[in-house]
Amino acid sequence: MITVDVKTGRPYRVYVGENLLKESGSLISKHVDGRVAVISDSHVAPLYLDSLIDSLRLEGIEAVSKVIPAGEKSKNIRIYEELLDFLAQESITRSDAVIALGGGVVGDIAGFTAATYLRGVPYIQIPTSLLAMVDSSVGGKTAIDLPAGKNLAGAFCQPELVICDPSVLSTLPEDIFRDGCAEVIKYGVLEDPDLFAKLTLEGIGFDRVPVITRCIDIKAAYVAEDEYDNGVRRKLNLGHTFGHAIEAVSRFSMTHGQAVAAGMCMVARASYAMGFCKQACPQGIEQCIRSFDLPVNCEMKTDELLPFIAADKKRRGDVISLIVPRTIGNCDIVPVNADDVKDWLEAGM
Ligand SMILES: NC(=O)c1ccc[n+]([C@@H]2O[C@H](COP(=O)([O-])OP(=O)(O)OC[C@H]3O[C@@H](n4cnc5c(N)ncnc54)[C@H](O)[C@@H]3O)[C@@H](O)[C@H]2O)c1
Ligand SMILES: [Zn+2]
Repeated sequence: MITVDVKTGRPYRVYVGENLLKESGSLISKHVDGRVAVISDSHVAPLYLDSLIDSLRLEGIEAVSKVIPAGEKSKNIRIYEELLDFLAQESITRSDAVIALGGGVVGDIAGFTAATYLRGVPYIQIPTSLLAMVDSSVGGKTAIDLPAGKNLAGAFCQPELVICDPSVLSTLPEDIFRDGCAEVIKYGVLEDPDLFAKLTLEGIGFDRVPVITRCIDIKAAYVAEDEYDNGVRRKLNLGHTFGHAIEAVSRFSMTHGQAVAAGMCMVARASYAMGFCKQACPQGIEQCIRSFDLPVNCEMKTDELLPFIAADKKRRGDVISLIVPRTIGNCDIVPVNADDVKDWLEAGM
């Protein structure tokens, strides 16, 4: 078992190891005196809920559970209300805890429910998708979607601990795993040329425990330095400014990972065109992304993408912060005036 400490205002630990789910009760018992309310989804619960509950029982921890329908469509205000009602009906108190067992959807909505029920009860993340392991379970961003857009209601609230068991990825459908790989590649481009080289060489068959741990390390360092996303943490948006627009224009027929992969290649090509990096940088990123069978470009026109980039949630006034690769392992936050984004986009096509 490997541990990563996340040094936020209230620090916590991420445990990474194969078959950790079966031992999760003993890790959780160090943090919870009362009962736990497990929230999972309709794909993950049949596979892993019993194993978690058995492990909790072995430690004498009483568990109740609630299963929501799998998928992004569940990350809404109605299910959020159902989850609040569930915690209230079960008389969950502040000395109890919520456990999120699932991918990023369960993590986000269970986290937001825990952050707001009784003005906050402790919660534990047990991520089961690759994306949730390397990204959403660490860092304390919790949210639900509103009809007006994704993640529009949420709270910063760090978990008590995170238990990451890569053996559960054996049941994750391959296309969803591949999608999460875009975020893994992103960490290499941001901070780690060795990780990046390994990923380019090994592709989707990469060695899971060390790679996932390294990604969590990088995310934990950003989050510790910038818990509330005003500084270095914004680098995690690499590939996402263009990527979110690509997702939206495709009406979500392109997945998040595909759009982020294409978005990373586009911003890297633009970086070269604008004189921020050598040509080897975009070429290397494209090569790595191709080795994962992810797209290196999109079919859309700049005029289709621009309105969505202008509406970017992370825009501040007229300035959009683009995350721009300089070399593999080193990216800058470049403030780009909204009027100039078109030039960047065209340079990236
Ligand atoms: N909070 C954050 O910092 C943050 C960061 C990135 C993304 N997110 C959010 O994460 C969500 C996407 O997460 P996701 O990609 O994990 O989606 P998801 O939670 O919908 O999981 C994808 C699919 O895989 C299934 N699944 C998960 N684990 C499985 C397993 N081990 N075996 C079999 N099936 C499994 C799920 O049931 C679902 O059908 C989005 O809502 C996004 O906004 C949050
Ligand atoms: Zn992402």
